[in-house]
Amino acid sequence: MSLLTPDQHKAQAAQKAVEYIQDGHILGLGTGSTVHHFLTALGERIQAGLRVRGVPTSQVTATYATQLGIPLLGNDEPWDIDVAIDGADQVDPQLNLIKGGGGALLREKIVARAAKQFIVIVDQAKHRPHLGLPFLLPVEILSFGWRTTQRQLEKMGWPAPRREQTGQPCMTDNGNYIVDIQIPDIADPSSLESALLHLPGVVECGLFVQMASLVITGTDQGTRLTSASNISS
Ligand code: A5P
Repeated sequence: MSLLTPDQHKAQAAQKAVEYIQDGHILGLGTGSTVHHFLTALGERIQAGLRVRGVPTSQVTATYATQLGIPLLGNDEPWDIDVAIDGADQVDPQLNLIKGGGGALLREKIVARAAKQFIVIVDQAKHRPHLGLPFLLPVEILSFGWRTTQRQLEKMGWPAPRREQTGQPCMTDNGNYIVDIQIPDIADPSSLESALLHLPGVVECGLFVQMASLVITGTDQGTRLTSASNISS
């Protein structure tokens, strides 16, 4: 049994990630409860004089960052992102990720891809030998023709229900829908990502393949660092 709660593990990882932030950095700011801890800790350092600017991956993150006094870059400014910090829903031994539990996967992937370094902060329960069930793979799809896209996805062999809340479709910040695909075991994340992105109507999927530079994990024994450069693929 774990000594600390998942939320305490998340807070630990988030605190550690702040140590990687330097004065003048442009930061990609992810989305989710782990990133919430990170933003809180970053806000404290900003109060103490740290100067950074951020690119938020969701409206929720933009709102909280603004409350904390973290300056944000506009959409028309160039994003020379030094470090992107984000959570994940699952991490496999090659540091491939499933993301998108909070529905922000498209902006998260754009921002992570634009960053020189992508630091992922997770609690220990996020590590799995294989990506897939029990976590569902989120896929962002256009609302236009969504039933057709959903049918194409289900032809790949797995149920792909649309994400809904109180009977209403969940909309992303981009005005799209999410379907959550029930895949037992994702043997080849890279091939699956390519196949999904090949389908018309699919905007993005929650597989982040070989994108993480560093994973910081909060555990009962303190934080554990796993660098991509130490992983044999
Ligand atoms: C948001 O869309 C997600 O990708 C989150 O980063 C992911 O779901 C992790 O969330 P938590 O930090 O809340 O576990």
